[in-house]
Amino acid sequence: MSISLYAPLDMHLHLRDGEMLRRVAPLSARHFAGALIMPNLIPPVSTKEDIVNYRTRIIQSIGDETFMPYMTLFFKPTYTKEFLQSVRDEITAIKLYPAGITTNSEGGVSGFDIDTLRPPLQAMSDLGIPLCIHGETGGFVMDREAEFVPIYEKLAAHFPKLKIIMEHITTKESVAALDRFDNLYATITLHHLIITLDDVAGGMLQPHLFCKPIAKRPEDRAALLKVALAAHPKVMFGSDSAPHPKESKECPGCAAGVFTAPIALQMLAELFIQNNAPLEHLQHFISANAQQIYGITPPDKEVVLLQKEFTIPQNYEGVVPMSAGEKLSWSINPAI
Ligand code: DOR
Ligand code: ZN
Repeated sequence: MSISLYAPLDMHLHLRDGEMLRRVAPLSARHFAGALIMPNLIPPVSTKEDIVNYRTRIIQSIGDETFMPYMTLFFKPTYTKEFLQSVRDEITAIKLYPAGITTNSEGGVSGFDIDTLRPPLQAMSDLGIPLCIHGETGGFVMDREAEFVPIYEKLAAHFPKLKIIMEHITTKESVAALDRFDNLYATITLHHLIITLDDVAGGMLQPHLFCKPIAKRPEDRAALLKVALAAHPKVMFGSDSAPHPKESKECPGCAAGVFTAPIALQMLAELFIQNNAPLEHLQHFISANAQQIYGITPPDKEVVLLQKEFTIPQNYEGVVPMSAGEKLSWSINPAI
C-alpha cells in the first residue's frame, strides 16, 4: 500500500545556519514542498539584507530538491510601516517571541501593551502580514501557555484584520481559543500530538523530548489530536523541528528542541491511520489548510509513503531525532 501526499508543508521549522543548516536543510527539502523558516538565529533575522542572504544560504543548502523557504522576520516593536512595506515581498510572516522565553529569543518583546505594539501591528494588519507568536508567559512552566491565551485574545480583539498564528499549541485552552476569534489560527507539532510530560520526565529524563513549550497533560494532547485528526480548518502542521547537536542535548542544561524533520511525515501518516482518520484530513493538515490560511501556492511536489518498515536512525550527523532506533511502518523512498 502507498499514500501520496501533495505539496507537504511544514509551517514552523528551525533550519539554523552554517554547518547545521547544511546538515538539516536537505532532510526537510527531501520530504516537504516548503516550510516557514524561523528567524531565531544569532543575531536574529531582522533586516531586509538578513532575509535575502539567509534565503540564499538555505537555497544553496538544499541542492536540487524542489523546496520553497517561506521566510519570517524576527518581530521588533520598533519596526516602522515604511520598513515593513520595504520587506513585504520578501517575507511570509513575522515571528514574535516574548524576550528570553526560548532559544535565542533575548531580543524579543518584554510586554504586551497595546499602545506600544500598535504601530507595527497596525502596519502588519494593513499590509496583510501574518503574525506568528510563541505564546508563553514567564509563569510556572506548565501554565505558561494557558496564561498567554488572554494575551492572544487581547491582540486578536484589537487587530481583527491581523492574522495571528498561535505557534506550536500544547493546551486545551489554546484549542478552545481558536473558535472564539476569526483571526486566530494555530500550528501543531508532531511531538505534541504524541507525547505528554510523562514521556519527557515521568521515567528517566528524555532530553530529546525536551522542548518549549513543554509537553502537557493527556487531556491537552487529546484536544490537539481532536482538531488535527479532524483537519480543523484553522490548524496546520508545523513541526517546530529544532536541531541541536547531541552534546547540547545530552548534558546538564539541555537545550530545548525536538528534531523531527526527517520522520514527521511517516509518523503523521501512522498517527492518522491508527486513529482511523481519513487521509484527506492528513492532506489538509499538512498542506491545504496552510495554503488557505497564508494564501500561498507551494511548488508542485508529490511525496509517496510506502508501507515498508523503517528504523529511525540513531542520529543524523550528530543530531538525534525523536524516537531514534524505533521502527515505523511507513517509509519514504529512498529512506533517509
Ligand atoms: O524547543 C524549542 N526549541 N522551542 C522553541 O521555541 C525554540 C526552539 C529552538 O530554536 O531550539
Ligand atoms: Zn520554534
